[in-house]
Amino acid sequence: MENNDHVVDSYGRIAKKLRISITDRCNMRCVYCMPSNNTNWLDNENLLSYEQIIRLAKIFVLSLGIEKIKITGGEPTVRSNVENLVKSLSSIEGLRSVSMTTNGLLIKDKIKILKDCGLESLNISLDTFKPDRFKAMSGGIDGLYKVMDAINTALDENLQLRVNVVIMRGWNDDEIPRFVKFSRETGCTVKFIEFMPLDGTGIWAEEVVVSKREMMDRINKDFIYHHLLPINNDKSDPARLYTFDDGKGVIGFIPSITEPFCQNCDRVRITADGKLYTCLFDNSSYNLKCLLEDGKKSDDEIIKYIRSSIQKKPEGIIKIIKTKSLRPTLNMMHTIGG
Ligand code: 5AD
Ligand code: SF4
Repeated sequence: MENNDHVVDSYGRIAKKLRISITDRCNMRCVYCMPSNNTNWLDNENLLSYEQIIRLAKIFVLSLGIEKIKITGGEPTVRSNVENLVKSLSSIEGLRSVSMTTNGLLIKDKIKILKDCGLESLNISLDTFKPDRFKAMSGGIDGLYKVMDAINTALDENLQLRVNVVIMRGWNDDEIPRFVKFSRETGCTVKFIEFMPLDGTGIWAEEVVVSKREMMDRINKDFIYHHLLPINNDKSDPARLYTFDDGKGVIGFIPSITEPFCQNCDRVRITADGKLYTCLFDNSSYNLKCLLEDGKKSDDEIIKYIRSSIQKKPEGIIKIIKTKSLRPTLNMMHTIGG
């Protein structure tokens, strides 16, 4: 059933998912994301407070048809009491799920409490099973075993878990089969993400992107006794999901570069300082924090502003690829929230 409040943009897409970044800070410096010496953090007073986030979330769910919220960063667990936020968000009537994306370094001891507060699913990023490589890809953090521990805890707690892997040629593409084995052995979904030009280090180049097609060919070659079968999944999920013919493992691909899914995009994003971005690949933003600040704007005025902002959502990366202007000068992932 369609909700009458849903916002439809000029390309006919309906916004159903909201990603809220609660901090731009992070305790890692992944090569595909952060500049290596980022000191330009937002000041605390410029962040949306949890109260402001909850007010906005209620508006988005109750009056703008948003069905799912994902909490992102930076790294969301570096902001204190994230579990309180999860609890308040998950009690909003009509919201179908609250999830979170994390690098897994600090989350192990919070997984149970987050689940009790209503967190439905967790995306943990892991790009390698090799400790030295983990260090090289995360800006010197010796964190592999901590993240593995968090993954195992999430599996034990039966939390819906997805492991996100950004594949970069020459960095970790040789580990694709190992991640596939991991999914087949644990049953947890592994999502391979094509490297996008949203890095703070300027290393993005077409040659470093490994396409979904190539990843699938390599998997089918490595697992000669089984082959990948598509799972019928939700059209608006950017991950194309597959299992094997013996039913073991769930492998997703996010082919943002080679098969962009902009036509079905149903997400909008809010940054930690309260700016609404309707597309990862568009620099225009709409300042929601200033509407909340003086306390003078009514919910109705805020709703109107958000509605008209979403209606202006651009076509997406598809257009940038068509015009061949893809390059690493776009938004950075840690500020906009992946
Ligand atoms: N390309 C693809 N994925 C990225 N992420 C961060 N930067 C990039 C990039 N340049 C992913 C992280 C995490 C999510 C928040 O975004 O791996 O899973
Ligand atoms: Fe931090 Fe995530 Fe960016 Fe890595 S991808 S630097 S963990 S925000």
